[in-house]
This record gives sequence, C-alpha cells and structure tokens, in this order.
Amino acid sequence: MTKIALFASGSGSNVQAIAEAVAAGKVPAEIAMLVCDKPGAYVLERAEALGIPVFAFQPRQYESKEAFETEIVGRLKKAGVEFVFLAGYMRLIGPVLLNAYRNRIVNIHPSLLPAFPGKDAIGQAFDAGVKISGVTVHFVDEGMDTGPIIDQECVRIDSGMTRGDVQKAIQRIEHNLYPNVITKLLNGFREEQTQ
Ligand code: GAR
Repeated sequence: MTKIALFASGSGSNVQAIAEAVAAGKVPAEIAMLVCDKPGAYVLERAEALGIPVFAFQPRQYESKEAFETEIVGRLKKAGVEFVFLAGYMRLIGPVLLNAYRNRIVNIHPSLLPAFPGKDAIGQAFDAGVKISGVTVHFVDEGMDTGPIIDQECVRIDSGMTRGDVQKAIQRIEHNLYPNVITKLLNGFREEQTQ
C-alpha cells in the first residue's frame, strides 16, 4: 500500500473524509502521518480517534521555515511516505519540502482556481457575487494556490444562499472529489512502478 501523509491546520473534515475512504477500501493508501502546524486544531482529535500517527509542531519554535520543513521531511522519509496531500494546511510550502517531494504534493482549494486564491476563498467568491464557484485539486509549486490543476468541480451559488450554505455545498464536493483524485493518482503511480 502506498504511504501518504496529510497536512492540515484546522477542523480536518477533509482528513476525516479521506481516512473514511481509506478505511472503506476506496483509496489504496495507508495514512502514515498527519502533519499539523496548529497544536490546538480539532483535526488532532480526529486523528487520534482515527488512529493516525501525528506530528504536530509550533512553527514559532523553529528558527526558520527551512528548519521545520527539514524536520518534517526527515519524519516523512523515515515513515516511508511517498505522497503528501494538503487538506486545509494554511501555510506556503517551502523549497525544502518541494525539493524532497517534487510533483508529489497536492492541495485542495475551495474555489475554481485561478480565481480566489489564498485565504477565505469561499468568502471572496461570496463577496464577489459570482454565481459559479467550486473546488480545485492541484499540484503544489512555489506559489500560493498555483501549480498544475488536476481536477475541478463547480458549485452553483443561487440567490438566497448564505455564506454557510455555500461552504456546506463546497465541503460536500471536497469530501468526494479529494478521495477520488487521490485514488486516481495513486493508481497511476502504482502502474508506473510495475512497468
Ligand atoms: C477546505 O475547504 C480546503 O479546501 C481549504 O481549507 C478547508 C479546510 O477544511 N483549503 C484552503 O483554503 C487552502 N488554500 P477542513 O479542515 O474541514 O478539511
């Protein structure tokens, strides 16, 4: 089974959805580690309940991004992790991680990129009054929510919908789309390995 790591900073509903899809045998992976940069985040409670090994750290306690990413890469390599999936990890990935996992780091973002990158993409779309937004899964590069797009799905924002309604609709899509994309990527990876 391909070993993967999930990175999260918040509530972890995507971590939960991926872990449930793994447990149901829908995603051919073992979640070897959850990396979390927010020691109080709810995702840590979910990880404990799900039995996922955790590395939680406080970025402030390191002298630089290079220093904490060096520690993360060491732990990922030791655990045999082959792919990294960002699931609400609200921090730019630096060169240390990018070089160690080139084309092996994937992110999910709650808008149709390149529209509304960065923080609070759902609020940005809502405030802009767009009628269609959605979800993007993409490879991670140096930029903020840039990098080649792997898949997208759209959500209609009908008049009368609240911000909360839009968030619910986006999350419903995320919880299906992300496990499906991960499965496709890992299946492709395993085919490559056996050729
Ligand atoms: C998700 O909606 C994800 O797309 C977004 O954070 C949320 C995390 O929710 N990510 C970004 O905005 C990345 N730029 P969760 O903690 O419940 O999975």
